[in-house]
Amino acid sequence: MSHHGLIPPHGGTLVNLIADSVRRAALEAETKSAPRIKLPEREQCDLELLAVGAMSPLTGFVGEAEFHSICDSMRLASGLPWSVPITCSVDKATADKIDLGQPVVLTDDADRALAVLTVKEKYAHDKTKECEKVYRTTEEAHPGVAIVLSQGDVCLAGNLEVLTPRHDPEFVDYRLTPAQTRAAFTDKGWKTVVAFQTRNPIHRAHEYITKCALEIVDGLLIHPLVGQTQAGDIPADVRMHCYEILIENYYSAANTMLSVWPAAMRYAGPREAIIHALVRKNYGVTHFIVGRDHAGVGKYYGTYDAQEIFDEFEPGEIGITPLKFEHSFWCKKSGAMASAKTTNSKPEERVFLSGTKVREMLVSGERPPVEFTRAEVADLLIKSMKQ
Ligand code: ADX
Repeated sequence: MSHHGLIPPHGGTLVNLIADSVRRAALEAETKSAPRIKLPEREQCDLELLAVGAMSPLTGFVGEAEFHSICDSMRLASGLPWSVPITCSVDKATADKIDLGQPVVLTDDADRALAVLTVKEKYAHDKTKECEKVYRTTEEAHPGVAIVLSQGDVCLAGNLEVLTPRHDPEFVDYRLTPAQTRAAFTDKGWKTVVAFQTRNPIHRAHEYITKCALEIVDGLLIHPLVGQTQAGDIPADVRMHCYEILIENYYSAANTMLSVWPAAMRYAGPREAIIHALVRKNYGVTHFIVGRDHAGVGKYYGTYDAQEIFDEFEPGEIGITPLKFEHSFWCKKSGAMASAKTTNSKPEERVFLSGTKVREMLVSGERPPVEFTRAEVADLLIKSMKQ
């Protein structure tokens, strides 16, 4: 099928690291007694994204030169924008046992093989630099930083060949690769598509900004992150039910598509917004929603930092168009969703609910107001919290 006319992937070519059946059999035979490294969840998520080309142009976990280039200048050595280093690290004792040129088997929690990494580089994992540059903090209270600090002190890089991107994946019907979303957009005749990243159920503010965005493009891809999130976030299976029921009731099925993004959340705010956008370009998406405190956590980032960071690049360099939305809310005076850009109502005429307040209501079986979340979504969330 021709994908002529779709936005090119980042760097021009969609990467595919999945070994064909002949190579796979050879790799399995060659690595029977090779060292096995159990990947932590974040690296497992990254591996799947690398495998299917979501991280194009990356063809594996980054080497030392790329690591420093990404941290220091938000660019790959080639000059292409890239904001977060994608690493595979081990402790020093493990690294010492691995020779350069040696294949190692990367496995999941159940010791099932995912990929073979032929190690070309072992280098010091500069965690302080990664945290300061990417997360803008070294505080362990930051959930993304806590994971970096828990990682190994030595990063491995080399030729990566993937056997299976993920064993027993969740949401198989929705787990579309970049090649598959591209084919779907072509089938639907969508030339312009906006993607919506989310790690939450879709509340009215999310619904509002996705629909504002859809008004100016052909299609909307609701693209929830379903890989690693932090304790306290709503589980992905519950969220998927919320998205399905919401689309069925409140969106136009002809112009809306749901598929999952099996990535790990880093909570890196602005730097993560850049990677979120670049990766969506690989899925064939032309526009990307960046709202209030995108990918943020706690008080680490300013409300619009994740929008402003796009200005550090020339527009053509990012390729995908960020659609920036102000903090939106229900405006009682206008009887509609709005933002400070579209209403001059007084603060007391606006419905704001904190995440904590909403959670308290749901746990006690109380529906938050329909100005905040649709009743069908509230009911699913209340039910899930009772279990
Ligand atoms: S995120 O980590 O995926 O960014 P979340 O699921 O809360 O978290 O947000 C999804 C997208 O909606 C992000 O682009 C975020 O900035 C945006 N967003 C969330 N709430 C609002 C709001 N009230 N007003 C405007 N944008 C919002």
